[in-house]
Amino acid sequence: MKSLDLANAGLPSAAVRPGWRSQLDKLIDGWMSSPGFYRWAIGNPITRWVTRRRAAQLFQIMAGFVHSQVLLSCVRLHLLESLRDGPKSLEVLSQECQMSPAALQRLLHSAVSLRLLELRGPHVYGLGALGAPVAADVGLRLMIEHNAVLFDDMRDTVALLRDEIQPHMQAYWPYMDGDKPPSWEVDKVARYSELMATSQRFVIEELLASYDFSQHRCVMDVGGGQGGWITALGQHHGQLQLKLFDLPPVAALAQARFEANGLGGRASAHGGSFISDPLPTGADLVTLVRVAHDHPDATVKALLKAIYQALPVGGMLLLAEPMAQATGPHSVGDAYFHFYLLAMGSGRLRSPEELKTLLSEAGFGTVMDVANPMPLHTRLLLAQKN
Ligand SMILES: C[S@@+](CC[C@H](N)C(=O)[O-])C[C@H]1O[C@@H](n2cnc3c(N)ncnc32)[C@H](O)[C@@H]1O
Repeated sequence: MKSLDLANAGLPSAAVRPGWRSQLDKLIDGWMSSPGFYRWAIGNPITRWVTRRRAAQLFQIMAGFVHSQVLLSCVRLHLLESLRDGPKSLEVLSQECQMSPAALQRLLHSAVSLRLLELRGPHVYGLGALGAPVAADVGLRLMIEHNAVLFDDMRDTVALLRDEIQPHMQAYWPYMDGDKPPSWEVDKVARYSELMATSQRFVIEELLASYDFSQHRCVMDVGGGQGGWITALGQHHGQLQLKLFDLPPVAALAQARFEANGLGGRASAHGGSFISDPLPTGADLVTLVRVAHDHPDATVKALLKAIYQALPVGGMLLLAEPMAQATGPHSVGDAYFHFYLLAMGSGRLRSPEELKTLLSEAGFGTVMDVANPMPLHTRLLLAQKN
């Protein structure tokens, strides 16, 4: 059984409520969960709209697993890509998908109800507002397909939480075994690196939109994967020297990408493990993108310390990854990332406050939030070595 470590569970913390407030909460909870409450709320014109909205939200949660399988089916049948060229009839789609019109119509109508598709005429379907971004982005489609692994692991979520099953997700990520060479199976490394490279576009947009990289001389991306981020950065900022550090087989893929993009003279990839090898020096900005959340606190502490040591005084670390407790509509990411990282086996979703504490403990003097357009999947923190 996993040990009880509430302080490190990445969960929201709240101040203790005064006694009167707890009494009031108790009354409200009892009233709202009483058998007569729903009848009263739906029968009252003032509360009806709230009740309808909450019922729809609860239905979304209950049926969410069906909705995500509708999305997955659309991706597997290449429906969304096919409709990028324009609307198509049921007959044409049924030939393309090699499925009877009656069966396919069930999927198409479900997809219309989820706004993945749109009905453009009798038996004619086009892209819906939520299907269009999926049709546009291969990285998103790969992530949706990859989520089938997590879906399998969440078949018995209670067993997953109790640590009673071996999640398939752990086998997908070979570095979860630490940094021992036998775990660096080349085909597995290539598979996850490809997924990361194609899904990285959204994070790259966040980084480029939110921070001024022109103030730096040399940027090193630690755990940089196949080098998509460093390549994009090099293409946007012609003055920058660039380095990447990752496990040796991944660094080799990154070096090949640099050469292919004409960045060989400015960008170099260094193979090693941040668990056991020192990091290259010379960079005045280190980026750490979607790396810390994969690892337990002890590894993250050691990694942040190693980055601190590799930086000159005044040097910066820009950390980008999903973080817990985003507000408003962005908070829906929490449930997904909490379970994704649980199934992965060793990391956890941390709040900005927890990451700030880890950064301060590693020696960084100033740590601040950097606002970015889409906190749903990525948030940014900037730390400076004083
Ligand atoms: C989730 S991927 C993120 C890759 C890339 N930064 C991105 O956002 O697409 C984590 C990266 O950390 C690398 N990594 C994991 N353990 C490592 C270790 N011990 N030393 C160096 N790199 C490691 C992996 O090979 C992988 O490329």
